[in-house]
Amino acid sequence: MKNTEIAGTVSWECPSNIAIVKYWGKHGRQLPRNTSVSLTLSEAKTRTSVSYQVKEEKGVSIDFLFEGVTNEAFSAKIKKFLSSIVEEMPFIQSYHLQISSQNTFPHSSGIASSASAMAALVMCLCDIERIGKGESSIDFNRASYFARLGSGSASRSVLPHVATWGQHADIEGSSDLYAIEINDVDDVFKGFHDDILIISSEEKSVSSTAGHALMDHNPYAEARYRQAQKNTSLLLQAMKEGDLEAFGQIAEDEAMTLHALMMCSDPSYVLMKPHTLKAIEEIRSYRKMTSHPVYFTLDAGPNIHLLYPDHIAHDIAPWIEMALKPLCVDGRIIRDTVGIGPKNIADA
Ligand code: PMV
Repeated sequence: MKNTEIAGTVSWECPSNIAIVKYWGKHGRQLPRNTSVSLTLSEAKTRTSVSYQVKEEKGVSIDFLFEGVTNEAFSAKIKKFLSSIVEEMPFIQSYHLQISSQNTFPHSSGIASSASAMAALVMCLCDIERIGKGESSIDFNRASYFARLGSGSASRSVLPHVATWGQHADIEGSSDLYAIEINDVDDVFKGFHDDILIISSEEKSVSSTAGHALMDHNPYAEARYRQAQKNTSLLLQAMKEGDLEAFGQIAEDEAMTLHALMMCSDPSYVLMKPHTLKAIEEIRSYRKMTSHPVYFTLDAGPNIHLLYPDHIAHDIAPWIEMALKPLCVDGRIIRDTVGIGPKNIADA
């Protein structure tokens, strides 16, 4: 860093992402057991500003406000994360950092915000580093690398449209250390819809961190990791060809496998709710009846992500209102689409 950089403010917004091939199981310093592939979203975002001010004493020093209010739990998590990366980003120790963050999606919607939150924070850190070094642009491999250390799935949120994380023989440039963009994708996926059906907004009974750890002794783990590598190849082929049926089948298989792995963990647990299953039945029977390419996936939670191409959005809207909305808490659906990734909002 140059000595002249005494103080400043950077601001970034970063979207969440939805994995189609799931990352579930990790080792070492947040390294994935298998490759994952995701769609970057555009509406579910975190906006973060970091003001930095040079200080005398070395050490990690922050103030953190979430939606304008001090949040001790988040603050402790961020401090721990920053402490874990000071060797690789030493400038962090020279500044007092005032961090302020907010989500564009509603409070307690049951939507995990760690991917967008960690990605937005890391984009701010990389920007401060860039300014200090007098460089003109951010290195996205580096940003994804640090986002991964904050939260595995965050590694994919710094990239536009379609991202993959985890080394794979078929994907040139793929790495366990950071995510990369997949460019060879049919245009139908650029405006793809992901309507997030809020089936429950309660906090999950088992966190993702605990869920990953349970994979270490899951008797089906090795078969699952092999399946994910195969599904990654099949999915990328389907996305290249614009083959919606193949895409949808892999998306649904992956969602069901993720939840099956939870059910056969020791101890076993279930994150789906009765309305999750109702929605799945409804989506599958509607698809059979109409031949519309509408599919679902699930995160590590009960909410359904309804996936469909833009050209059927108008036709299926009444069905979503009539058949799916009543299954959601207070009829809540977050309407999202595939988006372009992080945005610098410093001058907004
Ligand atoms: O990034 P984490 O540790 O919150 O794990 C995310 C795991 C899934 O959302 C279930 C799958 C994925 O690849 O995003």
